[in-house]
Amino acid sequence: MKFFIDTANLDQIKEAQDLGVLDGVTTNPSLMAKEGITGKENILKHYVDICNIVDGDVSAEVIATEFDEMVKEGEELAALHPQIVVKLPMIKDGVKACKYFTDKGIRTNVTLVFSAGQALLAAKAGATYVSPFLGRLDDISTDGLGLIEEIRLIYDNYGFETEILAASIRHTMHVLNCAKIGADVMTGPLSSITGLLSHPLTDIGLEKFLADYKKGN
Ligand code: E4P
Repeated sequence: MKFFIDTANLDQIKEAQDLGVLDGVTTNPSLMAKEGITGKENILKHYVDICNIVDGDVSAEVIATEFDEMVKEGEELAALHPQIVVKLPMIKDGVKACKYFTDKGIRTNVTLVFSAGQALLAAKAGATYVSPFLGRLDDISTDGLGLIEEIRLIYDNYGFETEILAASIRHTMHVLNCAKIGADVMTGPLSSITGLLSHPLTDIGLEKFLADYKKGN
């Protein structure tokens, strides 16, 4: 399972990269705004800064919602750095743009996916990644993990190569359950990755090992 971090915060990206388990980064316009990154020039520069920290794919989302504009914006994003993956919303023109980029060999991440039907369309359009938003479904008392399972089944039935990128991860149990289902990638906050580290028995065990060592030395 690949681990992506879902943030535009450079310090957090560095921390995850330094841990040695990071495979990529996802961003979106809200995450950019949260870091105070505004204006086209600054946003494009920030994507390059992220690419220079992480060894892996960096999703950069288009703002346009109409095909021609999406293509123009996506091509500009893809030209920034070889690690950039063009993130497209799951709307009619987003699907068309996905097919266009697939045919041109530009990698894509179809985002804002909330149903198996949408995920099927993204795969048909040749998306590199599909991003079902599991946390946002859970937020409205809907079974987010169930959606990941459905998509896994459909993709396996037909051998679709689109990778399931479980998005909108909220906590470590989302990560573990997605791993059990066979999601290819997860993207979540730094805490959903570092939270996997913790176990009280590890801390107690280490304390005892170190105390016993001290006794004999
Ligand atoms: C992923 O690509 C999305 O940007 C992200 O996971 C959305 O997460 P949220 O529901 O926490 O905003």
